[in-house]
Amino acid sequence: MTQDEMKRAVAQAAVEHILKKLERDSIVGVGTGSTANCFIDALAAHRDRFAATVASSEATAERLRGHGIEVLDLNSVGGIDVYVDGADEFDPHLNLIKGGGGALTREKIVAAASREFVCIVDQSKQVDLLGNFPLPVEVIPMARSLIGRELAKLGGQPVYREGFVTDNGNLILDVHDMEIVDPKALERHLNNLPGVVCNGLFALRGADLVLMSTPEGVKTFKAS
Ligand code: 5RP
Repeated sequence: MTQDEMKRAVAQAAVEHILKKLERDSIVGVGTGSTANCFIDALAAHRDRFAATVASSEATAERLRGHGIEVLDLNSVGGIDVYVDGADEFDPHLNLIKGGGGALTREKIVAAASREFVCIVDQSKQVDLLGNFPLPVEVIPMARSLIGRELAKLGGQPVYREGFVTDNGNLILDVHDMEIVDPKALERHLNNLPGVVCNGLFALRGADLVLMSTPEGVKTFKAS
């Protein structure tokens, strides 16, 4: 089974999972990335089963609209029933690293607004300890060097994602070799650095459910 086939399989499993819960007035939050794209494509066949979506990026909004699925501004909905998105890593506590695609800030906002967060991954994303994947940090452009130095003090090696501008007009530093012993504490600490917009740790609001594709089928991990 190829990685693409695994992505499609887990996306289909997520659609089946959410269809059990969706009502005609439900709002679905939709993530960003190649696995989320597979979810969008699988969701399209069921667009009459829910009211609308909220997208975590411009790219996702465009793909949803391309399928004829309505996309609403988060400010115009009372809340989101379920959010489906991929991740770059997940640990046994369902803490995540996200932001490989650079959409971390809007993804974190949509996750925070959602009653349920279903994370869809293939088995390459499963880790015991987060941090092998470089941790994305979105920063205000004028704070790039300042934040780079702060991240280096914490033991990481920040690398500027050259040529990339987020949907919010900011920059990304990808932090290599960061020791992530306490993901919640590090998420809080990074959030408090002036100039940081958001960091790719999703631990304070991790996933409620991870669906992980393997060649043997889709495995389910629930938050305890
Ligand atoms: C984008 C993300 C993605 O969910 C993450 O990078 C995983 O992407 P993919 O499904 O393409 O592996 O956080 O900001």
